[in-house]
Amino acid sequence: MDFLKTRITELFGIEYPIILGGMLFVSRAELAAAVSNAGGLGVVAAGTFLEEEDVREEIRKTLELTANPFAVNVPIFKPNSERLIKIALEEGVKIIATSAGSPRKYTAELKEKGVVVYHVIASVTHAIKAEAAGVDAIVAEGIEAGGHDSPDQIPVSVLVPQVVDAVKIPVIAAGGIADGRGYVAARVLGAEGVQMGTRFMVSKESPAHEKVKKLVIETGDSGTILLGLKATGHPIRVVRTEVSLAIKEEEEKYPEKIGGILNSMTEAAEVYYSGNIERGAVMCGQSAGLVKEDLSVQQIFDRFISEVKELSSDYCA
Ligand SMILES: Cc1cc2nc3c(=O)[nH]c(=O)nc-3n(C[C@H](O)[C@H](O)[C@H](O)COP(=O)(O)O)c2cc1C
Repeated sequence: MDFLKTRITELFGIEYPIILGGMLFVSRAELAAAVSNAGGLGVVAAGTFLEEEDVREEIRKTLELTANPFAVNVPIFKPNSERLIKIALEEGVKIIATSAGSPRKYTAELKEKGVVVYHVIASVTHAIKAEAAGVDAIVAEGIEAGGHDSPDQIPVSVLVPQVVDAVKIPVIAAGGIADGRGYVAARVLGAEGVQMGTRFMVSKESPAHEKVKKLVIETGDSGTILLGLKATGHPIRVVRTEVSLAIKEEEEKYPEKIGGILNSMTEAAEVYYSGNIERGAVMCGQSAGLVKEDLSVQQIFDRFISEVKELSSDYCA
């Protein structure tokens, strides 16, 4: 088994099947370009920007910083998702990562234009629907992941092999993966690549404030909680802080009241950029327990690849 060359490296034209998760506020040009320059697939999270034209600027910046392939993540539920996709295409983006919505909405049109499309799902049913919609690859995201998770709450270890059995297109595992061990495990489960969010959030090229990075580094194995289960049924994984625990308490008491404002409490730009972690919850995955240092993206890749090579030679000897 070749651990590092898969249908994903071929599909995206990249060296390693390691993908930056599209992360609101975090997956900006510098981080996306650093991941692409290190041989993975960088992603610009279009959901970050209130002004659509700022997405255009961010894509242009990314193009200046890397000549390698990168993708733009468009959450489909966003009212302006069509416009965001249009801007990405106008700027020559060749890979679109869709999430949070039906892949039927844009896939056929994007495929006609020669764009590579991959879509994030969290259950076998949605994987089958995404394949039927014509996407080129799927990200199977487990409940370990930071940010918005699925009500199905399936962990990667059981989600990935079932999705791999259910579809023919390549599957990328996401959630709880932060090093070469997680990568090799995901490959053995049948995934042909991994997507990481939390690991890259704590990197030199990440725009997250030092206080946010420190918080993630100090977060251990049980340091995240799920908000939203009672209020909306749609969980959001965040760091366990005084603020997030207070939101959780309010949610238990007044689920109807919290439901409508939960997103604004977990999606405050100032928390990520100014480090005002008392002003909102910080989205982050359970893999925070594996993130111990703020490293450059290149260092993350170097360690990761050497771990994969060592482990794969141990197991395949
Ligand atoms: C701060 C943060 C913001 C995120 N924003 C988005 C987003 O805008 N779109 C999306 O598809 N996924 C989003 N995600 C999920 C990531 O793309 C990725 O799938 C996830 O972080 C993988 O799990 P990990 O954090 O354990 O590596 C976000 C995750 C985090 C931590």
